[in-house]
Amino acid sequence: MRLEQLRVRGLRCLSDADLALGAGINVFIGDNGAGKTSVLEAAFLLSHARSFRSGAKEALLQRGAAGLSIFAELRHDDERRVRLGLGRNGSRWEARVDGESVAIGQLVRDCAVVCFEPGSHALIAGAAEERRRYLDWGVFHVEQLFLPAWRRYQRALKQRNSLLRSGDFITDALLEPWEAELTQAGSLIDAQRQAYLELLRPRLAAEVAELLPELGDIELRYKRGWGEGRELAEELRSQRGRDIARGHTTLGVHRADWSLAFERAPLREHLSRGQEKLTALACVLAQATLFAERRGEWPIVALDDLASELDATHQASVVRRLTAAGAQVLLTGTELPSALQSVPAQVFHVEQGTIAPLL
Ligand SMILES: Nc1ncnc2c1ncn2[C@@H]1O[C@H](COP(=O)(O)OP(=O)(O)OP(=O)(O)O)[C@@H](O)[C@H]1O
Ligand SMILES: [Mg+2]
Repeated sequence: MRLEQLRVRGLRCLSDADLALGAGINVFIGDNGAGKTSVLEAAFLLSHARSFRSGAKEALLQRGAAGLSIFAELRHDDERRVRLGLGRNGSRWEARVDGESVAIGQLVRDCAVVCFEPGSHALIAGAAEERRRYLDWGVFHVEQLFLPAWRRYQRALKQRNSLLRSGDFITDALLEPWEAELTQAGSLIDAQRQAYLELLRPRLAAEVAELLPELGDIELRYKRGWGEGRELAEELRSQRGRDIARGHTTLGVHRADWSLAFERAPLREHLSRGQEKLTALACVLAQATLFAERRGEWPIVALDDLASELDATHQASVVRRLTAAGAQVLLTGTELPSALQSVPAQVFHVEQGTIAPLL
């Protein structure tokens, strides 16, 4: 799939930017603070309804602007065209597909953007939440039943947590229905995550062999968030005392995590910062490959500041890989990366929030 038109208003320093994007590699070049990452952020917002940069969503809204909006014309590989819109007016976010107001879940199902950026090493070295998000994005795009199960689980979790904090009013009878709901929805989520990781494993091994051959084979480990071989309902029941003391639910799919161990770097601490980044990139590319196999088209690939993240050899290898796949790529840099000097690309110059194509 690819974005043909992208119009961004009121996002960070982009007051009103209107771009016709190329089908292959698009490069955004400009000085620090020019607004390059903000362009990638706009595309990513359509696909995730959140930014890849940490910090409050409030910071996205241009200072002094009344609202923020992103419009895009997306073309699928089967030539189907979809008009996408995401906007914020006051405190409300609104999504549109082909002019119709829709739930955000529908917008993000239509548009898929994967992103590798300076914060991506957090996927390897950061908190479990990052890894769960990565995993769930993948499951969400290949498994229709994931989102309803995830919503049911979140609702039940919220209810159980507020009961845990309700002091004297709490009884086993009040907790039981929510624990049953957590168990039902949680078991489905866990099964879908495991099935997804099974599919991901060989793709990940292939990407790692390409990017980090010196580290040997890779092992992907998954922790589902409660004791192996035990029923979640049983675990929740036996942990009630502890959960009341802590004021939240300490077991369940919301505590799941996964990790990678290399044959020649068994501990995460054995990886250099660059190797962490390459591992994160391998995860992003493996997820994109699996998406392409399941959905019949590549997601859009955003690469922020590629030249400052990877050495020249790895940059060239990624560019080759994505060109061969025929993916649309949105890439930023303070100058044209050497890997792109002999590759056809649509180049844009970005300066103080203004974007102009270089012919
Ligand atoms: N809410 C906001 N309102 C207005 N301007 C903002 C807001 N948030 C950030 N900015 C400004 O917008 C610009 C954002 O730039 P962005 O991060 O896209 O730059 P960049 O070209 O990627 O820079 P770098 O090369 O340093 O990564 C910066 O100048 C920043 O100060
Ligand atoms: Mg940037």
